[in-house]
Amino acid sequence: MALYSEKVMDHFKNPRNLGSIENADGIGEVGNAKCGDIMKIYLKIDNEIITDVKFETFGCASAIASSSMATELIKGKPVSEALELTNKAVAEALDGLPPHKMHCSVLAEEAINDAIKDYLSKKEKANS
Ligand code: FES
Repeated sequence: MALYSEKVMDHFKNPRNLGSIENADGIGEVGNAKCGDIMKIYLKIDNEIITDVKFETFGCASAIASSSMATELIKGKPVSEALELTNKAVAEALDGLPPHKMHCSVLAEEAINDAIKDYLSKKEKANS
């Protein structure tokens, strides 16, 4: 039995939106203390719309596939919608992850949340 879905393998082998963004409007970085994997998300935001998103992930296949899929899911979406992205939605979009790999998709949810928080706090500072 295959451990990973075809979609996971596809996003792992051909990650979408891999890289970083210069002058990003929001940057999020999270890590999982247990496995040591790290995920970084860069956002470009224009008029509350995520116009570009890139990621750098140092981690397992599921973490890379989750970040790739998560970036695809929030690209072109309003910030408010991206904030609601759950790790479950990411895993579902990948046609599932093995139970012991669900935490890898949690990293994607957290990294996006962290990047949006960064964006919002920068915006607040600019307006004060
Ligand atoms: Fe830790 Fe996948 S094993 S993120």
